[in-house]
Amino acid sequence: MSTLASTNPLGHPWPATRTPWPTRSAPLYGPDFARDPFSYYDSLRRTFGPVAPVTLEETGAFRGYLVLDHGHQLDVLQNRRQVWTRDSRWYRDLAEGALPPDHPIIPQFAYRRSRLYAEGTEHERLSTPGIRALAELDLLRTRDLIEDLAEQLISALFTDEEPGEVNEADILHQYALQLPLLVLMRLMGMDESSALATGNAIHEMLSGGPGAAQAAADLDATMRALVTERQTNPGPDLVSWMHHHNQESGLDLAELSEDVWLQIVAGRGASTTWICNTVLELLTNPDLNADVVAARCSMSEAMNHVMWINAPIQNLIGRWATQPTTLGGYDVNVGDLAILSLGAISADPAMRGVDQYISRTNKAHLAWGAGTHGCPARDLGGLIVRTGLEVLWERLPGMRLAVPKEALTWDLPYVARSPSSLPVIFPRPPAAPKDGQPWTTQPKFISSPPRPISTEPKERPSERQGRLPRWRSLVAWWPRR
Ligand code: HEM
Repeated sequence: MSTLASTNPLGHPWPATRTPWPTRSAPLYGPDFARDPFSYYDSLRRTFGPVAPVTLEETGAFRGYLVLDHGHQLDVLQNRRQVWTRDSRWYRDLAEGALPPDHPIIPQFAYRRSRLYAEGTEHERLSTPGIRALAELDLLRTRDLIEDLAEQLISALFTDEEPGEVNEADILHQYALQLPLLVLMRLMGMDESSALATGNAIHEMLSGGPGAAQAAADLDATMRALVTERQTNPGPDLVSWMHHHNQESGLDLAELSEDVWLQIVAGRGASTTWICNTVLELLTNPDLNADVVAARCSMSEAMNHVMWINAPIQNLIGRWATQPTTLGGYDVNVGDLAILSLGAISADPAMRGVDQYISRTNKAHLAWGAGTHGCPARDLGGLIVRTGLEVLWERLPGMRLAVPKEALTWDLPYVARSPSSLPVIFPRPPAAPKDGQPWTTQPKFISSPPRPISTEPKERPSERQGRLPRWRSLVAWWPRR
């Protein structure tokens, strides 16, 4: 756990006086909230206005200002008044040890030395190699990769029943959790054995169990080994491209490894939840599903609609005040937390005109964040989710929810709000289109290999290195919860 800090990150003592926490605040937990957060946001808005003081657990120690409306969210995210930071060392209650130390959300925002917690020129320095590497991706080839992996995962869903028999699967555990992680690990240039170790370590780390700390350490070691390997032996992958674009920024091994970690961990969670939320919306909104099936609405449009009504990241934790300020009429102290409620957008009266047709194409939602910390991987994230859904809809046309929507339970409703499982049933089609075909028959490059960057000639990666590995055993493997 973090050491207690009696000074702020600039080394100055925290202000001696604090405006008292509002006498009235609302819980952002509990069965009412978990069952229907959207009505809950609506009632918070009616009770408190555009900003609501909330607590995240029973003792009330874990508290922050929930920002419910679009205008205030933009104001904080774009930080026009230069008072907010993403650097969680500014969270005074955390620094002073006021939070329950084992609260499961703390690891989600605990400070790490990465672009996510950096500001200004340091943020730019730490972001540049990753952003430039992403720009090198060949998205058409990447789509092929995603499609291949999705096909394999779907083939693994079929049990041995005869065509026409009803099959059952859990789309969360058997598909949505796996696809983005497999894609990201492959794009980073991992071989099958380190991808396996990484997948295991991420599961262990996120489970928060007794092995979590060891898993996090193992993950760090794997990332460092990967970066070191790619520095000496570059290939057609994002880590090699990050190294290539690192000349000016000069990230050291720890910083580069941290950024690879960040991209994998940040990318997989939101993509998984977006897949689940869209599957759920399509299976419970017959009009939308009919429009998608009849091509009156593209899958991208259905996904955009979901960004409005059930954003993958519901509540962003967060931003912290570096100066005394006001927010929605409240006096905010240095070190107070603002939580951006991206999922509450439908509760904002200003957004009420966005009906289910406008929401298919209007991109004014804030589900990608905004400002300097807004998501840098929108094209890739959108591609992973869209391809995953399109393959799913093509291969499992008769899919239905196996339980009523009301019977679903939700994990971490105050952050990502992902269903704990997403059981579906579907008839086995007469012949699965690509079942039994070789994994990948021809060499494919995710990006072209980086050019040599020093005056010493380096070998260009061979065709063989650029070939997609057959990850059959990796796809077959997956820890079941
Ligand atoms: C597909 C669904 C995705 C969604 C909805 C999403 C959403 C977001 C949001 C809301 C933020 C802002 C965080 C903040 O302001 O505090 C963010 C940041 C970030 N995302 Fe994504 N993301 C997605 C996919 C990805 C993928 C695939 C990657 C990596 C390949 C990625 C990498 C990152 C990184 C590195 C940041 C931190 C940026 C910074 O602090 O400068 N995301 N994402």
